[in-house]
Amino acid sequence: MAPVPSLPIKVGHIDDVQELRKAKPATVPERFIRDMADRPKVVPNLSSSLDIPIIDLSKLMKTDKDEVMQLRTACEEWGFFQVLNHGIDLNVVEDIENVAKDFFMLPLQEKQKYPMAPGTVQGYGQAFVFSENQKLDWCNMFALGVEPPCIRNPKLWPSKPVNFRETLEIYSREVRKLCKTLLKYIAVSLGLKGDVFEEMFGVAVQAVRMNYYPPCSRPDLVLGLSPHSDGSALTVLQQGKDSSVGLQILKGQTWVPVQPIPNALVINIGDTLEVLTNGKYKSVEHRAVTHKERDRLSIVTFYAPSYDIELGPMAELVDEKNPCRYRRYNHGEYSKHYVTNKLQGKRTLDFAKIQSKTSN
Ligand code: OGA
Ligand code: NI
Repeated sequence: MAPVPSLPIKVGHIDDVQELRKAKPATVPERFIRDMADRPKVVPNLSSSLDIPIIDLSKLMKTDKDEVMQLRTACEEWGFFQVLNHGIDLNVVEDIENVAKDFFMLPLQEKQKYPMAPGTVQGYGQAFVFSENQKLDWCNMFALGVEPPCIRNPKLWPSKPVNFRETLEIYSREVRKLCKTLLKYIAVSLGLKGDVFEEMFGVAVQAVRMNYYPPCSRPDLVLGLSPHSDGSALTVLQQGKDSSVGLQILKGQTWVPVQPIPNALVINIGDTLEVLTNGKYKSVEHRAVTHKERDRLSIVTFYAPSYDIELGPMAELVDEKNPCRYRRYNHGEYSKHYVTNKLQGKRTLDFAKIQSKTSN
């Protein structure tokens, strides 16, 4: 989450979806109703061949060749996988879920002590809203920069629930370790030295976003979260234990729901790794849908290089058959570009694309 310019942004009135749900459970205001083409279709029961890959981290850590191959396939063909045996203590996983839920259940006035100012991405509210006529997501967000300390806004770290800060610190430390481990095996799966990303990234930037999706009387008309790819290198997504199915990823032309697996974390490749691997590993478009009766919570960690590094496709992944598809750029500039534009599929990555006849 890079610093954001102080543009005069007019976003109009943004309803808090939890309050809306409480006061008028059957009402969906116009601003949440998507254009016909963007509405989520009711997904038929898809065959299990359309389930996203599952990776066992304990096998990866023994450099099990099959598991490394599976990781490669997952990153090339899906850009998403669920990781089992991720090494994060289940108490830590449970604790963060509980404090996140407790936070969202606080009275609105309490949560509004930590407002997300229009055009910014930290605090409580709706991110990525830049105009009065933009459609809104059926979601409340609470986002915080975590590492390095200079990106923290201590005023936005809540004093309630009382154990929120400490729990987030512990959780973030564990997720950071997991990201480093995953990046090591992602490098191995590309035939590169295990520490290439660690060396390249400097002090990695880490941010968390908690998304709370209340039930919606018309899940067929709204989206929980607009389609987008993540600007990170790697994203770690934890789905609340009793949450409804909500995350969907775009596979070809089909939105594939991600079925939560108990104690697994969802990992996805972000734009930065797509660029670094010259498109070999994909940052896949995804979105969230809502449910008529059930709510949903997700806790999402974005892990990215330090803002001051310059990056572009790695030389090892560029050759005659795979010409360079992205230009070099400063990562801080990309982050700024990402957070100052509305979520629009993979549009933000046009920032880095080399537009030639052969590239798409
Ligand atoms: C995100 C995201 C999906 C979800 O926060 O970037 O993709 O299921 N969230 O909440
Ligand atoms: Ni995302």
